[in-house]
Amino acid sequence: MSDLRLMAQRRLPGGVFDYIDGAAEDEVTAGLNVSSFSNYGFRPRVLRDVATIDTSTTFLGEYLPIPLILAPTGFGRIAHSQGELAVARAAERAGLPYSLSTMGTRSIEEIADVNSGTKFFQVYVWRDKTLLKEMLERAEAVGYEGIMITVDTAELGRRERDVRRGFSLPPKIGLDTILDGIRNPSWTWDFIRAEPIQFANVTGKSVGDGSSPVTLSDYINSQFDPALSWKDVEWFKENWSGKVMVKGIQTVEDAVIAADLDVDALILSNHGGRQLDGAPPPIELVAPVAQAIAGKTEIVCDGGIRRGSDIVKAVALGANACMVGRAYFYALGAAGEPGVDWVLNFLAEGVRRTMVLNGVGSVKELTTDLVVHRG
Ligand SMILES: Cc1cc2nc3c(=O)[nH]c(=O)nc-3n(C[C@H](O)[C@H](O)[C@H](O)COP(=O)(O)O)c2cc1C
Repeated sequence: MSDLRLMAQRRLPGGVFDYIDGAAEDEVTAGLNVSSFSNYGFRPRVLRDVATIDTSTTFLGEYLPIPLILAPTGFGRIAHSQGELAVARAAERAGLPYSLSTMGTRSIEEIADVNSGTKFFQVYVWRDKTLLKEMLERAEAVGYEGIMITVDTAELGRRERDVRRGFSLPPKIGLDTILDGIRNPSWTWDFIRAEPIQFANVTGKSVGDGSSPVTLSDYINSQFDPALSWKDVEWFKENWSGKVMVKGIQTVEDAVIAADLDVDALILSNHGGRQLDGAPPPIELVAPVAQAIAGKTEIVCDGGIRRGSDIVKAVALGANACMVGRAYFYALGAAGEPGVDWVLNFLAEGVRRTMVLNGVGSVKELTTDLVVHRG
């Protein structure tokens, strides 16, 4: 994965790479999300006949070939002109659920046209509930199975790499952008030939429709409701007939509240370290949350996953599935759609191999006694 990240860094302009790779403030949480997986080791069992391995599982009643979901990420087209379409097509080929971000640069309908597999739509708590309702109706009309309510963004985290660069959507064309463009010709050629980038799901609104550059923090802080509360989760349950997931749970206490509200899944996530620096790494929450909610709600571990072995650890500790964001975004930036195919296969192959070497034949057998905490 670090090779893929490096390839993305070489192909993309600095500001684009930093938007993907960067995180809040000192990026401590973003680093810990990844490094905390090495706090856990395996207790491999041997001589267990691993000639046949079944890596499949179910999530919210749907079959998954491996316990993995593609996380919602905004601005897909910044890395590659196909953007979210490329990722959604690759997800369908891999048989994995795709999550479209509200801040996506391809629309709810465009994604449904290219992906007939399981799709989730990620929502924020917008101030404008009419707009929100319209988006939910559109997602329902074209068959999205569930929504993910992102609850960690009462205000945008301070992503200092973006602040330094004045990162905006669409990117502002200044001297530094032109120099960056010359240094990264394949990205630049792809970018200038494509139609202008915009937030495809909120077009026609006065800001963020692509007509003038807007910084993410100005946009989000003006559009999202900082008064969001558990009542909003109930509002979503009343206004959406499919599955409801809450994304951004960071403590056992909040996991218990979400489970008591009967949400279908809770997603342990700190937004890839992009919101509150100092938030706990999701992998450290999996076991205590699984213990506290005792199967009442499905659990997703989201953040820092770079290898199949990370997925195996999270599932062994009690997660039903994992999500990846940067893993496929680096791949999209490095090599476009074939890059995303490659990384999903890399993760699937990693899950399979880790199970073989642990002497585990099926996902059901991934239990807590397979892993040890080294600290
Ligand atoms: C470039 C980028 C954009 C993101 N955009 C969104 C978004 O629009 N909505 C959201 O809920 N999460 C968003 N996230 C967070 C991801 O859904 C996910 O929580 C995170 O990427 C997981 O960490 P990982 O990148 O280490 O896999 C974004 C993450 C990245 C890296």
